[in-house]
Amino acid sequence: MSPIPGDAQDLLREAQEIAQLGNTEFYVPDNGVNYWSPQVYRMLGIDPSERPSHARIFAGLHPEDRDRCLIAWSRAIRGTGRLELSYRFVRADGSARHIEARYRLSRAEGGSLRAVGTLHDVTERKTAEDAARLAQARLNEVGRLATLGEIAAGISHELNQPLAAITNYARACERLLAMPQPDMPEVSAALGEITAQAMRAGEIIHRLRGMIRHRETHRTVVAPNDLVRGVMSLLEMDARASRSTLRFDLAPDLPRVLVDGVQIEQVIVNLVHNAAEALTSTGEPGGEIVIRTAMGESGQVEVSVSDNGPGLAAGAEARIFEPFFTTKAEGTGLGLAISRTILEAHRSQLGYLPNQPRGARFAFNLPLAPEMS
Ligand SMILES: Nc1ncnc2c1ncn2[C@@H]1O[C@H](COP(=O)(O)OP(=O)(O)OP(=O)(O)O)[C@@H](O)[C@H]1O
Ligand SMILES: [Mg+2]
Repeated sequence: MSPIPGDAQDLLREAQEIAQLGNTEFYVPDNGVNYWSPQVYRMLGIDPSERPSHARIFAGLHPEDRDRCLIAWSRAIRGTGRLELSYRFVRADGSARHIEARYRLSRAEGGSLRAVGTLHDVTERKTAEDAARLAQARLNEVGRLATLGEIAAGISHELNQPLAAITNYARACERLLAMPQPDMPEVSAALGEITAQAMRAGEIIHRLRGMIRHRETHRTVVAPNDLVRGVMSLLEMDARASRSTLRFDLAPDLPRVLVDGVQIEQVIVNLVHNAAEALTSTGEPGGEIVIRTAMGESGQVEVSVSDNGPGLAAGAEARIFEPFFTTKAEGTGLGLAISRTILEAHRSQLGYLPNQPRGARFAFNLPLAPEMS
């Protein structure tokens, strides 16, 4: 190493201490003139009286890192160039430091290999990263457990009803059939109920699987109105069944959006389905469902579904997005929960507002395709 004037040497030492950075120079084969800066000794917890040697560093490598480093090192010293190694070094006191080492390898006189390098102690950064990763993992876990817990509680509650009904009807069948002259139409009716209840249980499980199984999303760039048109015939069936009119108010020239089309179509279908069911429940003529696409205030594409039905039941507003919340005899209470989950996966939200002068209005934004935003 070229000599460094006293002041500059002090400055360098101080700088290395601040940066947790040490420098080394050594030869392969070991010719006895190796060098470790004082910071290398401090970093690795090696007594300053020890002679610097590369073998000493290898001896201190964490067992899990040793083979990988040895392989990389023996491969690198066959040639010249650069080598970067990242490893844990176990100090004599048992504590481990995370080291990032960088070397430049060149041929010295006589053909030996000269390695000049820096050792950077990144333990603090690694520890902080590990802590952050752990915290994030815990957070995800807690979030998942909370929803799973909710869902599990809901499943047992929801499945209990059809299962209890099935048991009752089956017992009734047994009693009826044990009579000298069984009332076959009544047996048949009870069997019909069993089928219906079993189908209801099946439907609950089917929809839950759809909600829990996070199928790979397939995002594509699409025109928002095409999403509506893609499910138009399904929506018209709903409207016909509820004897209501379906009106499309689709803004022309909307920017394209980046979404999982199938999932967003499912949201639209769920919302129209709810609107149609709300209108059916009133039994009054004049029902209307409006599906609207427009530029939203935030510069995003807004899709809304509104109806002029009875609106939400009293006290329902706070609960409609909860899984299994339903006011319908045949409902599973999953339509809005699934829709909300889908939109959250799109970094969007499903909002509810009362419709004017009556009815309900659900709206959500769609993320614009990148080139348009
Ligand atoms: N357009 C609407 N008008 C009035 N009430 C609504 C409307 N949409 C939803 N709701 C209320 O929100 C509740 C939850 O809706 P959600 O779609 O989650 O479940 P559901 O329709 O009851 O059952 P599912 O969709 O699983 O068959 C409904 O039971 C209903 O009370
Ligand atoms: Mg629904």
